[in-house]
Amino acid sequence: MVDPVFLLAVVGLVGGIVAAYFVFASFAFGAGYEPTPRRAVETMLAFAGVGPADTLYDLGAGTGAIVFRAARTYGARVVGVEVEPIRLAILRLRVRFGRSSDRITIRWGNLFDQDFREATVVTAFLWPGAMTRLRPKLEAELPNGARVVSHCHPVPGWTSERYERSTDVYLYRWPAARGGAAGTPGPTGGT
Ligand SMILES: C[S@@+](CC[C@H](N)C(=O)[O-])C[C@H]1O[C@@H](n2cnc3c(N)ncnc32)[C@H](O)[C@@H]1O
Repeated sequence: MVDPVFLLAVVGLVGGIVAAYFVFASFAFGAGYEPTPRRAVETMLAFAGVGPADTLYDLGAGTGAIVFRAARTYGARVVGVEVEPIRLAILRLRVRFGRSSDRITIRWGNLFDQDFREATVVTAFLWPGAMTRLRPKLEAELPNGARVVSHCHPVPGWTSERYERSTDVYLYRWPAARGGAAGTPGPTGGT
């Protein structure tokens, strides 16, 4: 007979390891897991003026807070990139059994290995180091007129066209963001 206290401790330990893995495993790639808050998602999609003509890349798609809203409510074609396998499985299940699956593509991999040349909108909720690494890639690959919306962390050295403090959302338009010429100047986020 197994001691129930021992059993409980083992279950607690395994649960803790799984939870820690789920949140922290992707740190080394650019961000841990935290879903974008609903209000921030709405601001990001509204700031970018997302619509059916758009191809939106969500960089680090998590479990799909942005992916599904952009495809279902705003009618965009969405590419969600996610590196962590458990979140990837959840995303794929949600696409398989949910609405608007024909407009959603989920890619398993590192966002830094993706090609952004067909993106008209890029959304990100990543850590500052990842935003720094992302910038030269965006500058090399984004088509003119593409919008970049970021929650929490700015693109270093770019000038935002809009910034909402309450949701911590930055909007950039390429290539104006690089020269700081578009719209009402917002925070640059350093260099
Ligand atoms: C803060 S969460 C945001 C999730 C999602 N965008 C949302 O709105 O709910 C960041 C996500 O990016 C993923 N991620 C971090 N670095 C990545 C990388 N280099 N390539 C792909 N995904 C990455 C993490 O696994 C995590 O799911």
